[in-house]
Amino acid sequence: MKIHILTIFPETFESYFWSSIIWRAIEKWLFTPVYYKLNDFSSDKFKRIDEKAYGMHGQVISPEPLSKAVNHIFDVVWKKLPVVYMTPSWDLLNQEKVENYYDKLWEEFVVICWHYEWIDQRIIDLYVTYKISVWEYVLSSWELATQVFIDTLVRHIPWVLGNIDSLEEDSFSKKLNRQKEYPVYTRPEEFEWLKVPWILLSGNHKEIEKWKKDNLG
Ligand SMILES: C[S@@+](CC[C@H](N)C(=O)[O-])C[C@H]1O[C@@H](n2cnc3c(N)ncnc32)[C@H](O)[C@@H]1O
Repeated sequence: MKIHILTIFPETFESYFWSSIIWRAIEKWLFTPVYYKLNDFSSDKFKRIDEKAYGMHGQVISPEPLSKAVNHIFDVVWKKLPVVYMTPSWDLLNQEKVENYYDKLWEEFVVICWHYEWIDQRIIDLYVTYKISVWEYVLSSWELATQVFIDTLVRHIPWVLGNIDSLEEDSFSKKLNRQKEYPVYTRPEEFEWLKVPWILLSGNHKEIEKWKKDNLG
């Protein structure tokens, strides 16, 4: 999976991507993030890319640098790619939708990030394929929302997770009927006054599977 990330703060991605599962995916060439600094596409001598909003307070990212950046990526890869824009007010993500987005985006796409309030609506009208929300609350930055979305996709790439069962049996998976995962225990068998459910110690796999099913959230 290759993701072209348009941002003014590439370093905010590196701090998260340089660890654990995502880093393993990058090391194995299963996931390749490519960063583009939006300011590099500005024709302003101070490399500004924002302007005052019409009819309200606040700054908006101008259409020209964004359009130049998106077209630059299309030129480099010789084709038009899907463009993702993270926003609180559109398609709310859940596990099933992540699986559908993975099917559509597993190969290559562009994601637009900006740090403040908005981008010019005409960029959304002209280029954006999917408008995605990580849920009904407002974050200060697109980068964080984008990292959440990318993380959910990357764990679906084959061989990224050490154990494919953990993906198939995670909360909200198809196998768990989109329910929450059952409780999990380890040694010691008794901690404080709480004991591990005896079924889990019984070695009876059929009963254990039934217990797991009965204890989904
Ligand atoms: C401060 S928010 C802007 C909110 C915008 N004025 C509104 O009311 O929809 C800055 C950016 O962070 C991203 N963002 C914030 N919350 C998000 C969410 N729940 N899902 C996806 N993106 C989000 C969006 O890209 C948003 O434009």
